[in-house]
Amino acid sequence: MNELDTLVERAQEAFAAVATPADLENAKAQFLGKSGRITELMKGMAALSVDEKKSRGAAINVAKQAIEAALGARRQALADAELAIQLKSESLDVTLPGRVRAGGGLHPVSRTLERIEQIFGTMGFDVADGPEIESDWHSFTSLNNPPNHPARSMQDTFYVDLQGEDGTPYNLRPHTSPMQVRYAHQHVKKHQALIDAGQSMPEIRVIAPGRTYRVDSDATHSPMFHQCEGLWLGENVSFKDLKVVFTDFCRTFFESDDLVLRFRPSFFPFTEPSAEVDIQFQSGPLAGRWLEVAGSGQVHPNVVRNMGLDPERYIGFAFGMGPDRLTMLRYGVNDLRQFFDGDIRFLRQFQ
Ligand code: PHE
Repeated sequence: MNELDTLVERAQEAFAAVATPADLENAKAQFLGKSGRITELMKGMAALSVDEKKSRGAAINVAKQAIEAALGARRQALADAELAIQLKSESLDVTLPGRVRAGGGLHPVSRTLERIEQIFGTMGFDVADGPEIESDWHSFTSLNNPPNHPARSMQDTFYVDLQGEDGTPYNLRPHTSPMQVRYAHQHVKKHQALIDAGQSMPEIRVIAPGRTYRVDSDATHSPMFHQCEGLWLGENVSFKDLKVVFTDFCRTFFESDDLVLRFRPSFFPFTEPSAEVDIQFQSGPLAGRWLEVAGSGQVHPNVVRNMGLDPERYIGFAFGMGPDRLTMLRYGVNDLRQFFDGDIRFLRQFQ
């Protein structure tokens, strides 16, 4: 074996002996570096004749290529080994069961509110939103319920330690009815030009769901509860329309066509005539009982006037229902307070 073959063999052994890429680069320097063995052999050719240089140079090149090939092969082998280790450490067991993320869900009353909005939406009703801290005028006076009138005691109102411009205290709205006047004002403002020109204003058709408050707490009353107001006002809206709309709503909401409604005469300062709406299921666990679900009536002329409209021209009806009550009936819940206790075990049942 000549000197060059020996050199190639030594390089192969040196490369095989290293365990890391860094050691391999050091080993490479001994053979292929600036002062490595191959470079030295090249320098050693200086004294040779032209013919000798040719054959010696070719032989050295063959050895150099063999060393380079050995180096490349070893580099690849070390890289493969490193990758294999990395892959092994990152391996996944695809047979393990997945981690389940607990899903959130809508509160049962929120589901009812969404359902109400959806059903009235298909009947062309807009959805409006308004303040929960209300002025005395909006909660009472504008609704034909003047200061010191005995009807004010129908609602045990929470008052707020804050006075309005007229010297009366603000209240936590005891019903959503102030939204009738608030929404009508916006509507009138939008169509003031038509109204001033004596032309017909587009009808008002709106529902206003939201939180309401009263000093009241037992199995069927909570100091905070929900109401949904409805108002339909135009030149030709009658009590018959109220009956049709509300019957349609109840049957759709409870998914029951044999549900019967009863309009029972009642009193509210802001409607005349007024009626409580009772429903009766013909089958199921609640069959045969009359259940009160809303107050309603034809909007009182004084309220129409407070909306900025002529009561001789505009007429309509309003209703106020209890979404909490509807939720209790729909799901068979018998204590209203459970909705607001925040007990996740109770709420989960509705997911
Ligand atoms: N605001 C009334 C209540 O809270 C309900 C109602 C609304 C009655 C609209 C008639 C018209 O009891």
